[in-house]
Amino acid sequence: MQDIESAVRIRNVAHHFGEPGDARRMLALQDTTMDIRRGELLALIGPSGCGKSTLLNIIGGLLAPGQGSVDVGGKAVDGPMPREIAYVFQENALFPWNTIIENIRLGMVFQRVPKALHEERALHALQAVGLTEFANHYPAQLSGGMRQRAALARALSLDTPILLMDEPFGALDEQTRMVLGEDLSVLLSRTKKTIVFVTHSLGEAVFLADRVAVFSARPGRVKEIIEIDEPHPRRPAFITAEKFTRLRNQLYELLHDEIRKTVDQGTRSGGF
Ligand SMILES: Nc1ncnc2c1ncn2[C@@H]1O[C@H](COP(=O)(O)OP(=O)(O)O)[C@@H](O)[C@H]1O
Ligand SMILES: [Mg+2]
Repeated sequence: MQDIESAVRIRNVAHHFGEPGDARRMLALQDTTMDIRRGELLALIGPSGCGKSTLLNIIGGLLAPGQGSVDVGGKAVDGPMPREIAYVFQENALFPWNTIIENIRLGMVFQRVPKALHEERALHALQAVGLTEFANHYPAQLSGGMRQRAALARALSLDTPILLMDEPFGALDEQTRMVLGEDLSVLLSRTKKTIVFVTHSLGEAVFLADRVAVFSARPGRVKEIIEIDEPHPRRPAFITAEKFTRLRNQLYELLHDEIRKTVDQGTRSGGF
């Protein structure tokens, strides 16, 4: 693969939590090498605790890896890169005492976006997620799905080429997350953003991703990468297509033994 096509290069990344010699020291992520292509949505899927959030934090420069290196846009990551990377988390982290548009402006203040750009960027981001009419509402006046849209708008207003999304729809009900998934697919077809998207939902991964990286149980490493060759925007009808079911089953096969390892670590006796 040509360098120019990778937005993020991950080379031999491994990470322990805990100091050497501490009995609680644990290898969270091992031997991870991967290129994230410019303009793709790469989904990360794997058992709980396999290091998905750890990898996202390393890509985002929030955590320095114990071993290995990450390049973003050809530059070695050695701290947060607010011009390159924005985050959306499961907990939308909106300030409850600020309106939606104030929350978006604050995001830009924190990331030092020049003030002259705030108004236009905020309005554009609100429009992109369909929240223009709710600009002056407070988070508590919005549904969970709308709050996640607002968090997405805040990230979009930073106008970074890369978005890291850690289970962004994880706290929402299934129908709401399907609708938000459709909207994100439309957004993908319109922008050239590179998105790394952690999810527990196999269906969500197939619906949204251009590629899905399946992680092994802890210590996590990439077990396999599956290509989802289907143009964006993806339509709800894709969910009932034979191709969707085949890909979803393929992911399940790859994950099944890894999930079992994680679950059995907790029981040891094996089974009920
Ligand atoms: N700050 C931390 N200190 C100690 N252990 C951590 C810390 N963050 C994560 N871990 C551990 O590292 C492993 C991987 O965590 P994480 O990356 O959050 O997994 P995932 O997002 O795949 O569920 C887990 O066992 C978790 O308990
Ligand atoms: Mg996580």
